[in-house]
Amino acid sequence: MFAIISDIHSNIEALTVVLDDIETRGIKTIFCLGDVVGYGPNPRECLDLVIAKTQFTVLGNHDYAVLYEPTNFNIGAEKASYWSRYALECEEQEELRNKRWDFLGSQQMRRTMMVALDGIEARFDFVHASPRRPINEYIFPDDVYTNPVKMNALFERLDHICFIGHTHLPGVFLEDPDFYSPDELGYVYPIVEGEKAIVNVGSVGQPRDRDNRASYAYIDGNEIHFVRLEYDYKTTQQKIYDIEELDNFEADRLAEGR
Ligand SMILES: [Fe+2]
Repeated sequence: MFAIISDIHSNIEALTVVLDDIETRGIKTIFCLGDVVGYGPNPRECLDLVIAKTQFTVLGNHDYAVLYEPTNFNIGAEKASYWSRYALECEEQEELRNKRWDFLGSQQMRRTMMVALDGIEARFDFVHASPRRPINEYIFPDDVYTNPVKMNALFERLDHICFIGHTHLPGVFLEDPDFYSPDELGYVYPIVEGEKAIVNVGSVGQPRDRDNRASYAYIDGNEIHFVRLEYDYKTTQQKIYDIEELDNFEADRLAEGR
């Protein structure tokens, strides 16, 4: 069994609830698909927990922005990137400060794993955004209708299962092309030999599917399970309102899940 978390976005309240749930299920292995930081008020604390609890993390566009430079960000996201960098730089303990920067600076953009499931040898790819542009291509549910050529190109680059985050919209893309939300799947997708799937695990710290609960996924046997968890988003909101450099919108959206 292993869990996959993504898009934490410096939301320690959501991350804590998710990690507790993972522990309660007896899951010891956790992979993270990036965007640990950005938008939210607790970049340091979230990085420390991710460093301590995950086996690996891949680089997200917001991690990249804090480390190097925000490119193609809206003004709110850009401001949050610079503030997050400042928050990491303000750490007074040099060892801790370096540990966090080293972690961000050592991320790969893609990881691949062969996994023996019940009767199936599965190949899992892990990226933040998409199989062809690992940190910054958005794959939206609407793309299956509006841009089948794009979906085709994505599936051509795929061997079996690719786990993604980035849009903060959980669900499963199939090659048809088609998209199924966790709700439509009964919160379970069975891994099938020879069936390619792009699986978005949703966002821990800033869900955008009009459901404000934290999202993650875990693999048990041949099944991918989607999980949603309530958390104390009002505390996160208040912290964002209290930090001048963070837009109030980044707090407002947490209540509505958008
Ligand atoms: Fe994100």
